[in-house]
Amino acid sequence: MTPHPRLSAPKGTRDLLPADATAVLAFEGEFASLARLYGFSPLVTPAFEHTEVFERGVGEATDIVNKEMYTFADRGGRSMTLRPEGTAPVMRAFIEHGIGKSGQLPWKVFYAGPMWRYERPQAGRMREFRQVGAESIGSADPQYDVELIEFAARFFDRLRITEIELLVNSMGDEQCRPAYSMAFASFIRDAVEQRHPLCDDCTRRLDQNPLRILDCKKPGCRELTEGAPAVLDSLCFDCIEHFEAVKGGLTAAGVEFKLDPRLVRGLDYYTRTTFEFRCGALDAAQDALGGGGRYDGLAETLGGEATPALGFAIGTERTIAAIAKTGGAHPPLGADEPLVAVVMPLVEEAREVALQAVSALRSAGVPSDLGIPGRSAKAQLRTASKAGARVAVLIGSDEIERGLVTVRFLEAAGGEPAPDQLQCAIEELVGLVAEARTEK
Ligand code: HAM
Repeated sequence: MTPHPRLSAPKGTRDLLPADATAVLAFEGEFASLARLYGFSPLVTPAFEHTEVFERGVGEATDIVNKEMYTFADRGGRSMTLRPEGTAPVMRAFIEHGIGKSGQLPWKVFYAGPMWRYERPQAGRMREFRQVGAESIGSADPQYDVELIEFAARFFDRLRITEIELLVNSMGDEQCRPAYSMAFASFIRDAVEQRHPLCDDCTRRLDQNPLRILDCKKPGCRELTEGAPAVLDSLCFDCIEHFEAVKGGLTAAGVEFKLDPRLVRGLDYYTRTTFEFRCGALDAAQDALGGGGRYDGLAETLGGEATPALGFAIGTERTIAAIAKTGGAHPPLGADEPLVAVVMPLVEEAREVALQAVSALRSAGVPSDLGIPGRSAKAQLRTASKAGARVAVLIGSDEIERGLVTVRFLEAAGGEPAPDQLQCAIEELVGLVAEARTEK
């Protein structure tokens, strides 16, 4: 019989084995706790949406919509797309549920979950990846730009990631951007005529969305943009006033930033403030840990009433990689609740008492595991030590006869020799283990 070929996860996806999954959940938990501190509430939207949400929301001229979406016809023939990002779905939900009419604005929500983009997989760039993000919908006041950017900056502080830089720019609005965009495109057309052509992607961008050329990493395209008019010199009065208030607010809040007039970001919905966090410890192609900005026109694009808004998203895998590279997040994410105790039934008859003991420990919130009945004490102790447990609860025939359990400390505080084992009644076990836990 021919063996079946082995199956593997699709290209650009990966399994999160227990250690990585623990770090991801801890990361998302940390983000959620800070989000609550800044007054954001959780929101969960579907993993797929009508394709139009992204075509209209993210923009037909973007790389995401042009070549990166996982789009399929469902069995009813409707075009659906796995979400490549979270902002357009959040705005779709805001409009659908009539939240703008509630009078309780801004609507401040956060989310965490997987996103899908059909990209060329490489380090830091996956086809399935996770984001945590936050959106603040309903106010044009620059104080919300400051609040949101400060929230993101504090999150990176909390993770103790170093070598991080916050870049800030203003993209202008519908009053001043069209003129700037035309002046920029005309500068590039002249440069192409005089020097050399753009890459294929940028040639397309020149007609559809010329400012995206600023984002191209290819040296030829970068060279053609040198000396081009800068967006910050073309802002209208309202945009200048808004941007000054954002910069002033960030300085007052103690958030360090650098101005970057080349920062245009890859999504069409941005107006005014844009920002990005980059980490110098990662390769340039994947050094953006997160970013965001204002998108005051998105609500109307998606069929709602004009509603100013802004938000950001952070790449979970990339940020966890930056933690590992820069020695951040101490204690390590996910290591705050390691296994504490292992209950070891040394004989078959110990099964029930062992279950009782492990259940008492778990009810008291002590992370505990159960050994395999009948295996030798030595083998069970070795497994428990490897798993990092600090307490072993041994139950053999002698213990059953006397109605006690034996508690052995596998590792004492400060690396001192472990004290001798002692015996106690099951009712005393939780107290004893809790004591050992706080001593650590
Ligand atoms: P974005 O810049 O496209 O923004 O994505 C945010 C972050 O997601 C990136 O900085 C990066 O860390 C991570 N990321 C993006 N693509 C990949 C990938 N293929 N593999 C691994 N990580 C990736 C947005 O998505 C906007 N929705 C942000 C936003 C929210 N703007 C306003 N509100």
